[in-house]
Amino acid sequence: MTVKIAPSILSADIMNLERDVRAADQAGADVFHIDMMDGNFVPNMSFSPSVVEGMRRVTDKPLDIHMMMENPDAYVKPVIDAGANTVLIHAESTQHIYRSIELVKSLGAKAGVVINPGTPLETVKELFPVIDRILVMTVNPGFGGQKFIPGMTKKIQRLDQLRQTAADDNFDIEVDGGINDETIVQCAKAGADIFVAGSYLFNGQEGLKDRIDGLRSMAFD
Ligand code: DX5
Ligand code: ZN
Repeated sequence: MTVKIAPSILSADIMNLERDVRAADQAGADVFHIDMMDGNFVPNMSFSPSVVEGMRRVTDKPLDIHMMMENPDAYVKPVIDAGANTVLIHAESTQHIYRSIELVKSLGAKAGVVINPGTPLETVKELFPVIDRILVMTVNPGFGGQKFIPGMTKKIQRLDQLRQTAADDNFDIEVDGGINDETIVQCAKAGADIFVAGSYLFNGQEGLKDRIDGLRSMAFD
């Protein structure tokens, strides 16, 4: 298993975004997680394609876009043109998730589907052949700093079991929300591969490198 740590820049210091992105890059971030919120799908607003473009200028690491918006298809090309490597789309945000995934792939990026805590795994099973990633939300989307929902560990476990028995198992399992040095242990044991962390990394007292190294070592525990 390859553990990947994905700092969520939602919790970075927005007035020092370049500084924080460079610091996380040097501290060993595997990939950057960029939340795009529209104030409709979730009750908050955040980054736009121009932020993706700015980040592309300061880091060579992969940029993952977590779209929390209605009509996500309209922003797929803008974010890929801006430098996104992976586009993650909520199953709940579009009538035609299969079509949205195909759109992402047709533009040369990796595609992932995201499911809210209340959305059953059944929703994503038919997508196994076409997706690179399934992101299981471990909090309700919209804000950083929320508490991990404990029941999500079993959901990840069930998804990993489905993956092990599926013919198309070529996707990673990612978790987002409330990830810290304790919750990462149970998510890793349950089968997750990619771990988003926002407030734990950027609001911590110790240096970013210690935090990223610490998370990685706990995931291997
Ligand atoms: C929440 C976002 C997350 C957020 C995670 O809706 O999708 O990416 O930044 O923040 P923490 O790690 O603080 O829960
Ligand atoms: Zn996110």
